[in-house]
Amino acid sequence: MHLDLSPPLLVFGGPYSNLRALAALRERADALGISASQTICTGDVVAYCAEPEETTQAIRTWGCHVIAGNCEEQLAASADDCACGFDEGTECAALAKGWYPFANARMSSHSRRWMAALPQAITFTLGGLRFRVVHGGTRIINRFLFGSQREALREELENSGTDVVIGGHCGVPFIAEVGSRMWFNPGVIGMPANDGTPDVWYGLIRITGGQVEFSTHRLSYDHTSAAAAMHRFGHADGYAQTLLTGLWPSLDVLPSPERAATGQRIAPQTVRVAIPASRAAAE
Ligand SMILES: [Fe+2]
Repeated sequence: MHLDLSPPLLVFGGPYSNLRALAALRERADALGISASQTICTGDVVAYCAEPEETTQAIRTWGCHVIAGNCEEQLAASADDCACGFDEGTECAALAKGWYPFANARMSSHSRRWMAALPQAITFTLGGLRFRVVHGGTRIINRFLFGSQREALREELENSGTDVVIGGHCGVPFIAEVGSRMWFNPGVIGMPANDGTPDVWYGLIRITGGQVEFSTHRLSYDHTSAAAAMHRFGHADGYAQTLLTGLWPSLDVLPSPERAATGQRIAPQTVRVAIPASRAAAE
């Protein structure tokens, strides 16, 4: 799906059934004067937290752009598991046997039909740069890609046919410049980023002073109530504790550098790219 978008843009991943975090993000967007038509979610509206159907309805009511995550693909098909890409026998895979059936049992047929109709990718042009929004990798929806994986990012970016890829799925925010291209993962709003704080993350893309500016931002929200809701629904596994501590229940999916950064407060990033004169003139 190709869109015509006007800056600034707000981009975010993984609401993960966390209704309170989604509400806080919408308030932040309103405060920034950013409309739903300038906002993009990279998928996984439903996952670990307490209110899958309510969160789906809330994001539909908001009306921002959403692409399909692996969770939407699986729930749309009423599949048996999340297809997150966790290795069998790991803690993440064991936890998914708890939260995925919980979510799957609560999704309305209306919401499943909406999920089935979501695009797998969005493309747009902004500031002379070509963008592609994907969930995980450019070819594999559940590929985990972290900022330390430079060669994997290089290969993905070369395959993308664009200047910038906006990706989600992995749960950790990062902006990686690789050659003349960029991978921008704005993080997720449904779970903390394993940095020992309960904050969640989103990203902004602005045009300022002849440059395209990419930035990542913390979002504080009522995480105590989000964890309490998981207890109230009888769905309090390791992720309920993560909402409070900011530490993931398992580090299975993390490469060594991100694993070593567990509990270290993540600093927001800002990267500016000059608008290519030739393309800006043509736009
Ligand atoms: Fe995902």
